[in-house]
Amino acid sequence: MREFSRSRHGAGSTIVLVPTMGALHEGHLALARAAKEYGDIVIVSIFVNHTQFGPEEDFSAYPRTLEKDCLKLEKEDLAAVVFAPSQEEMYPDGEPKTWITVNRLSDHLCGISRPGHFRGVATVVVKLFTICQPDVAIFGLKDAQQFYVIRKLTADLNLGVEVIGVQTVRETDGLALSSRNQYLTKEERGQAPILYRAVSNAKELVESGIREGERIREQMLSDIQEANLGRLDYAEVVGSADFYPVEILESGSTVIAAVAVYFGSARLIDNQIIRVP
Ligand code: PAJ
Repeated sequence: MREFSRSRHGAGSTIVLVPTMGALHEGHLALARAAKEYGDIVIVSIFVNHTQFGPEEDFSAYPRTLEKDCLKLEKEDLAAVVFAPSQEEMYPDGEPKTWITVNRLSDHLCGISRPGHFRGVATVVVKLFTICQPDVAIFGLKDAQQFYVIRKLTADLNLGVEVIGVQTVRETDGLALSSRNQYLTKEERGQAPILYRAVSNAKELVESGIREGERIREQMLSDIQEANLGRLDYAEVVGSADFYPVEILESGSTVIAAVAVYFGSARLIDNQIIRVP
């Protein structure tokens, strides 16, 4: 993989990496389409990274559909290369001894309910960057905390990769596309758009001049209560610099209204990134 990237760099090409765990849907394909705009050679990586899953999480159940994924990419000629390493290639000793941890940004939200998750993500992303040698890497803003964590580690470690975020792709009723949506029953699927409604209402409140974080949070909580099949994990308004809850929203700052809700065993997340007027 690295030889390939070096030879393309030698020929003057720009390389764009789209890291994924496969089971590609329109959200992932949107990232690959965007990638084309940022460089000459698009690499899509597909690797279900066990180090970012908790012991009780869906690592073994996670859908693995490599052939279908490749066909989807081929159909639109979205990638020059699909990099799909084996578990043994990525982690020859099982657990790595070296970890990348991004402090503070990883403390709250998904960092609380998924201990070790961001450490696993950060470590594999640095490995993928080192192997694939991209100039640009594309991530979805659906996973806003992940995006900010990766952008921070890239800056802190001087990795020299430009990290680009792409808007969330949604179903017509607002539900963010996710490989985990397939775990939902029909009834749960019917209620799942509540996440989007909650964060959209939060954005409207900010835009209408509300500045108390707690007031916005209460609105999100009451929205989510409408979904009786859902179980709240979190609903918070956090600052983009550290992902800590914000008490009073400051003009000109960027905040993220973020929610996570369990429907059965499926844990769904959504957010709105809001520039405070
Ligand atoms: P995965 O969940 O497969 O997602 C791969 C990329 O697709 C991420 O950047 C994610 O934010 C983006 N994505 C997922 N759903 C999206 C949607 N509806 N709209 C737009 N983008 C969407 O995120 C991971 O994999 C892993 O943590 C990874 C970064 C690959 C590290 O293992």
